Amino acid sequence: MMLLAFVVLLTTVAPVASATGTTGNSGSKKLVLGTSADFAPYEFHKVIDGKDQIVGFDISIAKEIAADLGAELVIEDMGFDGLLPALQSGRVDMVISGMTPTDDRKQSIDFSNTYYKSKQVIMIRNADKDKYPTMADLENEKIGVQKGSIQETIGQGIPGAKLIALDKISDIVLQLQTNRVNAAIVEDTVAVGYLDDAIGLAPAIPAEEQAEAAVGIRKGNTELLNAVNGTLERLKSENKIEQLVTEASQLMADKVNKSQNIFQVFWQYKSFYATGVGYTLLLSALGVIFGVIIGLIICLFRLHDISILRWIGTAYVEVIRGTPMLVQLMIIYYGLALTLGINFTPLQAGIITLSINSGAYLAEIFRAGIQGVDRGQLEAARSLGMGRGAAMRFIVLPQAFKAVLPAIGNEFVTIIKESSIISVIGMVDIMYQASVVKNITYQGMNPFLIAAAIYFVLTFILSKLLGRLERKLSASDRR
Ligand code: ARG
Repeated sequence: MMLLAFVVLLTTVAPVASATGTTGNSGSKKLVLGTSADFAPYEFHKVIDGKDQIVGFDISIAKEIAADLGAELVIEDMGFDGLLPALQSGRVDMVISGMTPTDDRKQSIDFSNTYYKSKQVIMIRNADKDKYPTMADLENEKIGVQKGSIQETIGQGIPGAKLIALDKISDIVLQLQTNRVNAAIVEDTVAVGYLDDAIGLAPAIPAEEQAEAAVGIRKGNTELLNAVNGTLERLKSENKIEQLVTEASQLMADKVNKSQNIFQVFWQYKSFYATGVGYTLLLSALGVIFGVIIGLIICLFRLHDISILRWIGTAYVEVIRGTPMLVQLMIIYYGLALTLGINFTPLQAGIITLSINSGAYLAEIFRAGIQGVDRGQLEAARSLGMGRGAAMRFIVLPQAFKAVLPAIGNEFVTIIKESSIISVIGMVDIMYQASVVKNITYQGMNPFLIAAAIYFVLTFILSKLLGRLERKLSASDRR
């Protein structure tokens, strides 16, 4: 545990800790923006000069605010429904994400003056155009909405509607294309980016009044609130906001080529995947190292003479093994931040979760190995005059290690694959990058096939290496 604390400390100081791709530049003031970059033209991913960038008029506004403050803008991209907790826990300083200042939200955060207005529309497959002339026709339908958005609330008001609430708008459109939902509620400006031969707008209109967008600020941070309002007023008086919207819409309009094949997708976005591989390997390697350490400690506890230690060891294994890793991750990443104010970066939270989790499994593997060595071995060693420690070290543990090597190998392979779960908190690993590529290319299959291939190559190489080690160790058995 102390070692774990040490690495956490280490990764806090090291700039690599920032899993968002921003580098630590500890001289200047930073302004951290939280956003859900799936909302063109407000905020979206776009490859510019071969690099993935988050652009849009919200982002331009954020840059203006940062410039007025003389601060460096850092962008954190996350799911829309993660924005409020991120702001409250201090993970980000402000939220600009086309967010409507609703009364509900005002309970937990403050809002600037509004800077944009939009209407709600319903997207459907063009083939169904005549099916939904009025809102009443949408009753009892499957409707896609963004999780935590006002569109979700609007959807809840449609009698009998089965709502599918997802993190990202692109996922909702994918569901519409693949007939999993039959309609989606979005804002008019955003819908424009998705309309094509297959997807169109329904004549039905979900809500009369317009929804506004404002900047979210942590409660009580009046200094920033005033600064933001200052910048917004300046932009309004210069008529700059319309200009930014137009620019962003133009950026959105030059669409990506949807018909690239898998090799083209891989080649164009190879740098994304390369970054992902780096983080996946880092995450897994550190997860394995600390997992082994925790596993050894817990295994010692479980085999100890003192019953309370045995009890702790057993409790650890049972609790960790009996709860899903995703839940553990949420507790470590969001739970600790909201209750104790411990703000881990995604990388730190990922390493801790993976180590704690694999520690429980490895402890059991180690225990099985040690207990699997015939008692006679220990007795023989002792009767030859070896002390308990020496007998353990030279006789029991080497045999135990050899016996459990395949099981340990399995666990390492599992860690590499399971590390993909960490992507849900914004860790830029292979899985995360695959989603980013999906959002940019609007392709549902190729980005993930590429990710699968990469994971396979990694785990395949690892199991080959472990197989070699196994053969080397068993060479003595054949003599
Ligand atoms: N205006 C809507 C709301 O406040 C939707 C905003 C969604 N924003 C996004 N970046 N996806 O709920």
